[in-house]
Amino acid sequence: MDLTIPRIAIVGANGYGLHHRRNLEPKRRRGELELVGLCDTAEVSEDPDVPIGDAAVFDDYRRMLEDADPDIVVIATPPPTHLPIATDAMRHGCDLYLEKPPVASLEEYERLYAEMIGTGRAVQVGFQALGSHAFTALRDAMESGRIGTLEAVGVAGSWQRPDSYYRRSAWAGKRELDGTLVADGALANPFAHATQQALAIAGDWPLDGEIELERLRCRDRIEVDDTAVWRGSNKGGVSITVAVTLCGDRKLEGDIYVRGTEGEAWLEYPTDRLSLPGDAEPKQYGRTDLFDNLLLHRQRGVGLISGLRRSKTFTGVLERVLNDPVPPLVDDAHLERVGADPVTVLDGADAAVERAAKEGRLFSELALPWA
Ligand SMILES: NC(=O)c1ccc[n+]([C@@H]2O[C@H](COP(=O)([O-])OP(=O)(O)OC[C@H]3O[C@@H](n4cnc5c(N)ncnc54)[C@H](O)[C@@H]3O)[C@@H](O)[C@H]2O)c1
Repeated sequence: MDLTIPRIAIVGANGYGLHHRRNLEPKRRRGELELVGLCDTAEVSEDPDVPIGDAAVFDDYRRMLEDADPDIVVIATPPPTHLPIATDAMRHGCDLYLEKPPVASLEEYERLYAEMIGTGRAVQVGFQALGSHAFTALRDAMESGRIGTLEAVGVAGSWQRPDSYYRRSAWAGKRELDGTLVADGALANPFAHATQQALAIAGDWPLDGEIELERLRCRDRIEVDDTAVWRGSNKGGVSITVAVTLCGDRKLEGDIYVRGTEGEAWLEYPTDRLSLPGDAEPKQYGRTDLFDNLLLHRQRGVGLISGLRRSKTFTGVLERVLNDPVPPLVDDAHLERVGADPVTVLDGADAAVERAAKEGRLFSELALPWA
C-alpha cells in the first residue's frame, strides 16, 4: 500500500486540462494530492476557482518531468501529441491519466501498450462514462439474465455546435494537420464516448470483420463528419450501431438501446440514467471518478476502470474513421442555420440517428432525402 501523497502534473493545462484542474482542486485542498506542475505551450490561464498556487508552470513537458518529478501525469493535449508525451512520462516513472482518444491508430496503440508493459506503469484513459454505476448495473442485469442473450447495442446522439466550435483550436474541424491525421469530427471527438460505451456494453469483445461507415458534413468549412453512423458486429455476435449528429434539432444526450432475446434496456450514458426491463421509469445512478480510481489503483491495487487495454477496439474504429476521406457535403436544401453564432440543423437528423440506433441501420437504409 502506497500512502505517500501523490504528486500530480498536468500537460495541456488550458483547454480540457482546466476541467482536470477543477476536478483535482478539492482533493488538493483536502491534502490528498499535491499539484506540482502545470504545462502548456500557451500561457497557463489563471482561474479564480483553480489558482495556480504552488504549482510550477512549464511550457515544455520534458522540463516539467525533470523539475517537478510527478508521480501521475494528466495528459490533456491534442491527440497527435499523446504518444510522445505518454512515452516520456512513463519512462520517467509516472502513471498516466491519458485523455481520450489515447492514440489515433493501432500501430501507435501497440507502441503505447508496449511502453506501458515495459515501464510497468498504469494508464487510465479518459473515457469517464465507463465509471458510471448505471453501466455497472446494466452489466449486472445482463449477467443475471434479465435481457436474455444480448443481440444488439445501438447509440443515438443528437447535439448542436455553433460555428465558433470549429474555431476553438487549430485542429478543430480538420482531417489532418501538418500531415498528421487529427481526431476531430463527431464520431472521433465529442461522441468518442458513445462508441467506447457501446463496445463495452457489448462485452468488450473485439470486432469481427469490417465496420460499415457513413459520414456526412453539413458545413463546407470542415473536413470531418458532423453526422455519421458506423455499424459492426463483435466476436460475441452482438451487432453495434453508433449514430450521431452535431446538427440535430432535438437533443438526444446519448441514448443507448440494448436489445436481448428476453428484453430491452435503455441507458443515457452522459447522465447515468438507466431503465431495465420492467422498470416504470429510468433510475438515476452516480459515477466513480476515473482519477479517484487511478489513485486507489496506486494505493491499494484496485483495478483500473478504463485501463489502456480497454481502448484497443475503440482505437481500431477510430483508425477506420480517421482514414476515411473528407465526407460528402449535404445539400443546402436540407439545412437550416440558426442564431447569431449559427448552429446548422440538418432536417430530420435527430429522428434519423434515433431510428438508426434502435433498428441497427445505416442512414442509407432509412430512405432519407439527404443520405
Ligand atoms: N474526456 C472528455 O470528455 C474530453 C472532453 C474534451 C476534450 N477531451 C480530450 O482532451 C484533449 C485536449 O482537448 P482540447 O480540446 O482541450 O485540445 P486543445 O487543442 O484546446 O489543447 C489543449 C491544450 O494543450 C496545449 N498543448 C498543445 N500541445 C502541447 C504540448 N506539446 N505541450 C503542452 N501543451 C500543449 C494547448 O496549448 C491547449 O491549451 C484531447 O485528447 C481531447 O479529445 C476529452
